[in-house]
Amino acid sequence: MSAENLNRRAFLAAGAVGLGASAMIGAAPPRAVGPRRPVVVSSANGLKTVEKAMEMIKAGADPLDAAIAGVAIVEADPADRTVGYGGIPNEDGVVELDAAVMHGPTHGGGAVASLRNIMHPAAVARLVMKRTDHCLLVGEGALRFARMHGFPEENLLTEESRRIWLHWKETNGKDDDRIPPPDDELDDVVREFFGIRKHGTIHCSALDTHGDVGCTTTTSGLFYKIPGRVGDSPILGAGLFLDNEVGSAGSTGRGEANLLNLSSYAIVDNLRRGLAPKDALIEVCKRIVATNRTPRLRDAKGRPNFDVKFYCVTKDGRYAGASLWAGAKMAVHDGDSARLVDCASFYDEKLIEP
Ligand code: GLY
Repeated sequence: MSAENLNRRAFLAAGAVGLGASAMIGAAPPRAVGPRRPVVVSSANGLKTVEKAMEMIKAGADPLDAAIAGVAIVEADPADRTVGYGGIPNEDGVVELDAAVMHGPTHGGGAVASLRNIMHPAAVARLVMKRTDHCLLVGEGALRFARMHGFPEENLLTEESRRIWLHWKETNGKDDDRIPPPDDELDDVVREFFGIRKHGTIHCSALDTHGDVGCTTTTSGLFYKIPGRVGDSPILGAGLFLDNEVGSAGSTGRGEANLLNLSSYAIVDNLRRGLAPKDALIEVCKRIVATNRTPRLRDAKGRPNFDVKFYCVTKDGRYAGASLWAGAKMAVHDGDSARLVDCASFYDEKLIEP
């Protein structure tokens, strides 16, 4: 079968799980399957992601292409309010997406930040890596680049996310002339969202059958952010990093903490120095705790009043997840099955949101 036919088959397979054409733009043709045991790890919202990525890796896909196709399911899912379509918008009610990718065999990386109207920013980031001499495009320039490469433009703000944003605006806005509805008139979607408010984002790191790694992190970012705010997800070294000789890592949670500590780079460096996966992650948790000196970000005991979660996979197939606070899970597929497993944690207690 020709490479073109194989690509078409991969494209149709992606379409079958509801992905648009844009999810496959820039994917490499599948290769022969190698002898190594593959592993895919992701955040807790990535169970379908690891399933899709593993299915593609077993069919010979490049590890980065597999990771991108995996997260594309969540980017297109309106029920995940922390990634892609249906993400919680910025303070003006506009969804702005950040994403980055890294490719082990070429040590290439690409990213987009503050991208509007494009459902699959991770696939755009792959094209930044493949079709430009740059690593990061932002805002209007990133949108024009995506448009030029045929990504369809669409409104990413769902009706439910708009209602959630409106409630936030009416209860947190500075204007005195906005009046929120009384509690008993609040719709269930809004009530439920504010009851379980949490950070999101999705990371996926994939190790293929040749021992090559690829990774991506994609997000709609901080809820109700200042327009133009960029988190860690599109910053190589902060929200994700890899070294094909060592392994791959990424993060979800409070992006500013990762920007200030280059957390994903630090994880891969810890692995390079021989730390076990769990220890490599906990070391970075320790660093975040030690460097978090801002009073409004500390609880009464001086501990971070936020959470950050880390995930990694090594070149020889070991993996781990860890968070500052207890209770986090991660998704993993080790070739046999996709499942959620417990992450290690720096503190034994669960975070009490401020
Ligand atoms: N970690 C995602 C963000 O802070 O935007």
